[in-house]
Amino acid sequence: MQLPNFEFHDLKPAVADFRREVVAGLKASPRRIAPKFFYDAAGSKLFDQITQLEAYYPTRTEIALLKAHGQAMGDLVGRGSALIELGSGSDLKIRTVLDALAPAEYLPLDISGSHLRDAAMGIARDYPDIQVRATCVDYTRQFDLPRMGADVHRVAFYPGSSIGNFEPGQVMELLGWIAHMVGVGGRLLVGVDLKKDEATLKAAYNDPEGVTAAFNQNLLVRMQRELGAELALSAFDHRAFYNEARGRIEMHLLANRPTQIVIDNDCFAFETGEGIHTECSYKYSVDEFISLAALSGFASERVWCDDRQRFSVHCLRANVRG
Ligand code: AVJ
Repeated sequence: MQLPNFEFHDLKPAVADFRREVVAGLKASPRRIAPKFFYDAAGSKLFDQITQLEAYYPTRTEIALLKAHGQAMGDLVGRGSALIELGSGSDLKIRTVLDALAPAEYLPLDISGSHLRDAAMGIARDYPDIQVRATCVDYTRQFDLPRMGADVHRVAFYPGSSIGNFEPGQVMELLGWIAHMVGVGGRLLVGVDLKKDEATLKAAYNDPEGVTAAFNQNLLVRMQRELGAELALSAFDHRAFYNEARGRIEMHLLANRPTQIVIDNDCFAFETGEGIHTECSYKYSVDEFISLAALSGFASERVWCDDRQRFSVHCLRANVRG
């Protein structure tokens, strides 16, 4: 179907990039694979399921904040913007934001191509007055954004606390790139999960339904299918815990028996209890995040939190060129 207000740009990373990063990560010590590789079509669907889980509080808490304060956010950042969304996540979330911010253009960026295309086409169909310019891309690297209207002001929207996936040093680099995307005076609305008691955090990444475990293991399924990796899925268990000293959830895939992963000519052996570190999800206090943003050229304009202090949405303004 052709829609006059829809365009799709494909800058999808090549399978060769996935292969290179997986092999390098398995050769490293400790072994690690970046969480961006969770998101193939199946992984994006599993993540959608995670957002519906009882124990996974971030999505529904953030949506409630966007619903309650969307008009205030719109008043602050101004209507008629070019809205750049990093990691197009929940459909409900972005629709809430589009209703409140009424942008002229919507530019979703996502590494998961088919998932992005379906979601962005649905938006274009339901919001005929918004120009939708979708790009399949690894947004952590610099690239040329689609051409936008010359006189629209830019607002970046980075929901879900995906920013928690990056080490504090990497966050500064990413924020610098986002500052460059929106330009001096441009805004960033970013969702940030807050530090809280260990039990709540741990439960959010250890659902009894096993969806988070399947999401973590999907990385191995992807390696089998896309890289021809030889491995035994049942030899790896999902493990997630809160590393309080570092203020982050860690997810790992741990060998429950001696096993190996073979990719091309490389063989990676695992003893029982050895594994692959697949994700960090950093949690921040409001002040910690404001300080980090300040170091990256963003000034804090406003912060919204829920009554239980579980989740925050920050409005930041870029004050220097990234
Ligand atoms: C998409 C990075 C925000 O860290 O909570 C959910 C990913 N991993 N359950 C998060 C995730 C396991 C999620 N982010």
